[in-house]
Amino acid sequence: MSKEIEAILALAAPVIPVLTVNRVEDALPLAMALKQGGIRVIEVTLRTDAAMNAIAEMKKIDGLLIGAGTVTREGQLHELLSIGADFAVSPGATPKLLEAGKRVGVPFLPAISSVSDMMQGIELGYRCFKFFPAEAAGGVESLKSFAGPFPDVSFCPTGGITEANFKHYLELPSVLCVGGSWLVPADAINQQDWSRVTQLAQSALGK
Ligand code: 3PG
Repeated sequence: MSKEIEAILALAAPVIPVLTVNRVEDALPLAMALKQGGIRVIEVTLRTDAAMNAIAEMKKIDGLLIGAGTVTREGQLHELLSIGADFAVSPGATPKLLEAGKRVGVPFLPAISSVSDMMQGIELGYRCFKFFPAEAAGGVESLKSFAGPFPDVSFCPTGGITEANFKHYLELPSVLCVGGSWLVPADAINQQDWSRVTQLAQSALGK
């Protein structure tokens, strides 16, 4: 499974927009606006009642991979499998969830913020992690320190990443892509300002 999530993150590079969707009717135009801006992989956080249906809607668009974020329970992995979600991301890594992530059949990206967390994941066969909360957990300097003892581990840093700092992360060989909500501000979604969403994506992708 680890290989599969690595391939998804490599496809997502340089950035996965992390979305919080409150209205299912926003899902299609929002995902289309991101696709138009050059985005290929989207993460929808499971923090709203609309999230699962929003993922199912976005899955109707060809050429995009749609995953879920804020996954904290095994039951969510089963639900994501049933709606055809492409991947699942957790803000953490409990032993139970790590084990379920290997078993359920949805490519799974657990998060670590310390070496001990990472070693627990490695023990269960994971080689690819979200680094969360990236800025608060030491940012680029922490990732550089991880690379010494763990040269074959790769990351998607997320949390506090912005247009101003994301390129610093991408310079590290261990970073496959970054994740962030800065690409899709809440007010842009609320105002259904899809052209702004496209512009922010194009800007992040240097287009
Ligand atoms: C996440 O769910 O991965 C983070 O909340 C996204 O972090 P950000 O809002 O700081 O980009």
